[in-house]
Amino acid sequence: MSRVIGVASVKGGVGKTTIVTNLATTLSKMGYKVLAIDTNITGANLGLHLGVSSRNILTIHDVLKNSIDIKEAIYKHQLGFHVLLGGIYLEDLNNTKMSVFKEKLNSIKKEYDIVLLDCAAGLGDEALNAINSSDELLVVTNPELPSVADAYKVVEYAQNNWLPISGIVVNKSKDGKYQDINLKDVEEILGKKVLQSIPEEKEVEHSVNLKKPVVNMFPNAKSSVSLQKLAYKLVGKEYKEEKTFIQKILGFFS
Ligand SMILES: Nc1ncnc2c1ncn2[C@@H]1O[C@H](COP(=O)(O)OP(=O)(O)OP(=O)(O)O)[C@@H](O)[C@H]1O
Ligand SMILES: [Mg+2]
Repeated sequence: MSRVIGVASVKGGVGKTTIVTNLATTLSKMGYKVLAIDTNITGANLGLHLGVSSRNILTIHDVLKNSIDIKEAIYKHQLGFHVLLGGIYLEDLNNTKMSVFKEKLNSIKKEYDIVLLDCAAGLGDEALNAINSSDELLVVTNPELPSVADAYKVVEYAQNNWLPISGIVVNKSKDGKYQDINLKDVEEILGKKVLQSIPEEKEVEHSVNLKKPVVNMFPNAKSSVSLQKLAYKLVGKEYKEEKTFIQKILGFFS
């Protein structure tokens, strides 16, 4: 059975797109048939994270103009999963109707094990159409009070609308000393368990700039391991870390 997982937050820049590209890569490597969709139509950038230009390809904007079949705009990425990207120009937005998205998605979702929706930040029309097209939500927050307070709005919306939350993800976690809000605080504020925390690491920023998911570029970085753990948890499987030779040696000294 297919699962449509909306990756959502009210605050922008918390790491939704980063999480989508890394989950898609990991789940695809695990053998799942995955489709990642950029539903952030006013700020589409999934293609930029994945090194794919949306110029000269069909995009979600074409789908939302009702001008083409959704299948025509889905492409296979070299990392194994399928993508439905967004146009990055202002004029791409002309005549798009996000309200047709759910129906379009429903026509193809059964062809995938997992569909990941990279949602727009907030709870405006654009984000809500994606959230309401999801079977479950991954709510992303950073360990900062404004971000967690915003995340509560998504949690509340999901609860009011009987939408299951598959987990809270705390991204850009900092080392103990500077992490003023810890995971317990997040759980207490949101009334939900944190499924995974992902450290803030230069490797993530660097791989975004290199237009490759960090799990692909730096598979042994702490952030990569956390992102892979998140993917395994989402499908109820146990993650076993593959240690490099150096890590095994260092393990003897720690
Ligand atoms: N764990 C992390 N460590 C360091 N940098 C990170 C981490 N996660 C994300 N970033 C950086 O934060 C920035 C925002 O990430 P991203 O684009 O994934 O957020 P977003 O929630 O999708 O943003 P938007 O709301 O604008 O769509 C990027 O520059 C990315 O490199
Ligand atoms: Mg994004």
